Amino acid sequence: MGQALPKPALRPYLAEDTPVLAAIFVASIEQLTGDDYSEAQQEAWASAADDEEQFGKRLASQLTLIATLQNSPVGFASLKGADHIDMLYVHPSAVGQGVGSMLSEALEKLAGGRGAKSLTVDASDNALEFFSRRGYEAKQRNTVTVNGEWLANTTMQKTLGDGAKPGAPT
Ligand SMILES: CC(C)(COP(=O)(O)OP(=O)(O)OC[C@H]1O[C@@H](n2cnc3c(N)ncnc32)[C@H](O)[C@@H]1OP(=O)(O)O)[C@@H](O)C(=O)NCCC(=O)NCCS
Repeated sequence: MGQALPKPALRPYLAEDTPVLAAIFVASIEQLTGDDYSEAQQEAWASAADDEEQFGKRLASQLTLIATLQNSPVGFASLKGADHIDMLYVHPSAVGQGVGSMLSEALEKLAGGRGAKSLTVDASDNALEFFSRRGYEAKQRNTVTVNGEWLANTTMQKTLGDGAKPGAPT
């Protein structure tokens, strides 16, 4: 019988996690988005982590969760305000194991807890399929400039369930 794969766990972000999250961010962009973005676009996108202090401020200003496998960070996601996913990145060595799903599910619950009725994300082209499988609908196509490069993404939205609402019919 084969060994069971270790299960990912979640924990909140701490300031000292910044370097490892910056490394996950860069590796994820460099290795997972090449089918949809040019090298110049990937470099511009990844450059958001060049200034670690700034990157740490962005992580700290949002509700940032870290996914770990055997206590090592393998992915992270952040909720901006009550209802927008700003970042969701999984290390290439850990993709396809449910880490992204676990992170986005946790953010959906936290957004619901903050009173959000729906959740939006500006999804990269490579993450479109991932989000649409999770019930997000494409609303608007965008083109944004990042460090001098134009990048396309899609604003997607998911209506959050109200099954837990007190008094809802059973
Ligand atoms: C998108 C991303 C977060 C997915 O993470 P992940 O840990 O591999 O996701 P999961 O293992 O939870 O996958 C969930 C489902 O989505 C599917 N899926 C994941 N990434 C996919 C992709 N790029 N294309 C198509 N399907 C994908 C999986 O096959 C899986 O399907 P299943 O439930 O039928 O098995 C990861 O690929 C990533 O970090 N991408 C690069 C960074 C990025 O673009 N982030 C989004 C910024 S908005």
